[in-house]
Amino acid sequence: MRSSEALAPAAPAIQSVPLFDLKRQQARLRADIDGRIAHVLDHGQFILGPEVEALERDLAAFADARHCIAVSSGRDALIMALMAVGAGPGDAVFVPAFTFSATAGVVASVGASPVFVDVDAATFNMDPMAFEHALDGVVAEGKLRPVAVMPVDLYGLPADYPAISAIAEARGLQVIADAAQSFGGKLGDRSVGALAPISCTSFYPTKPLGAFGDGGGVFTEDGRLAEAVRQIRTHGRQGDGDEALRLGMTGRLDTIQAAVLQAKLSVFAGELVWREEVAARYDAALEGRVTIPHRPDWARSAWALYTVRVPNRDRVREQLSAEGIGTGLFYRIPLHRHPAFATYLTGREDLPVSDRLADEVLSLPMGPDLTDAEIDHVVERLLAVLG
Ligand SMILES: Cc1ncc(COP(=O)(O)O)c(C=O)c1O
Repeated sequence: MRSSEALAPAAPAIQSVPLFDLKRQQARLRADIDGRIAHVLDHGQFILGPEVEALERDLAAFADARHCIAVSSGRDALIMALMAVGAGPGDAVFVPAFTFSATAGVVASVGASPVFVDVDAATFNMDPMAFEHALDGVVAEGKLRPVAVMPVDLYGLPADYPAISAIAEARGLQVIADAAQSFGGKLGDRSVGALAPISCTSFYPTKPLGAFGDGGGVFTEDGRLAEAVRQIRTHGRQGDGDEALRLGMTGRLDTIQAAVLQAKLSVFAGELVWREEVAARYDAALEGRVTIPHRPDWARSAWALYTVRVPNRDRVREQLSAEGIGTGLFYRIPLHRHPAFATYLTGREDLPVSDRLADEVLSLPMGPDLTDAEIDHVVERLLAVLG
């Protein structure tokens, strides 16, 4: 159980609070994980062993999605999704400007062109009106063929899929969810994994559901897309066949990581409740003092990160760091300012919200095992630094 103990008089003063602390979760689950890894070592099927298929079934059931394909990373999941829908040279894929660089990197990796869209100032997710505006711009210019939009569920909060999908469907674009940060989140009563025709998540260790290495998942309702991703995952081959039916890659999740994820998935629903409790305690203490995360009543975040907006962000971060409090900058540089994507700029970029957020966001320590005393300590020090 997450400790709700306030700092007891006899408890030692808190010296430091890291941004993420994966060791506590490991301690809770160590015996189960050790047993599952030992089982994989015993049977020796390190590639696509039975744990992979079992995990895919459990993940699909958790998300209430028809198909899940376990893959090598979040980035590879997105690349495989883009390959499965046939995105390539001459194609435009719309991505939010305020996200991790991989969101645009994968588009460029398949030869397509990322087009940057500003985000909503409240949710930090893709602004549907800005998407439509950027789409009109690409159509008017006539150089690229718009094929897909890739909303990101930033910090764990699902994007506005109903609004974005309505525009995409009317204009013939595929929706690919970059759900790298949001597995476990919900929009109404539907779960991340089932919010778009194809959704990609990451099992990077610090994600809400994290492996002990790289991993990812592709979710889809469409049997043909699922089949395509399965082929792409193993060099474009069908099952054990030796014929390459399409271009593919080495994109499988290791059996050992599947075993670790099975153990973690067995406690994941409870951990999501704990993350929510952590976020609620931050909210209650920080509301009115800094800009706290927006909580639309139609969505539930997986709380990959708890991110506030503060003035003088870099100075605040430095002072907290000097006091042993770990914070994160996700993201200091919006996508249109990365040198790697300079060649994709259209000259029409108007991304003021992304630019502003990049200067103001600060992610505070987050995790299911954070204690109330630690949260209170972080809040107290943050408010002291802000003065
Ligand atoms: C929004 C987003 N997209 C893609 C990725 C890539 O995931 P991975 O690190 O598993 O390749 C990440 C990971 O941090 C991410 O946050």
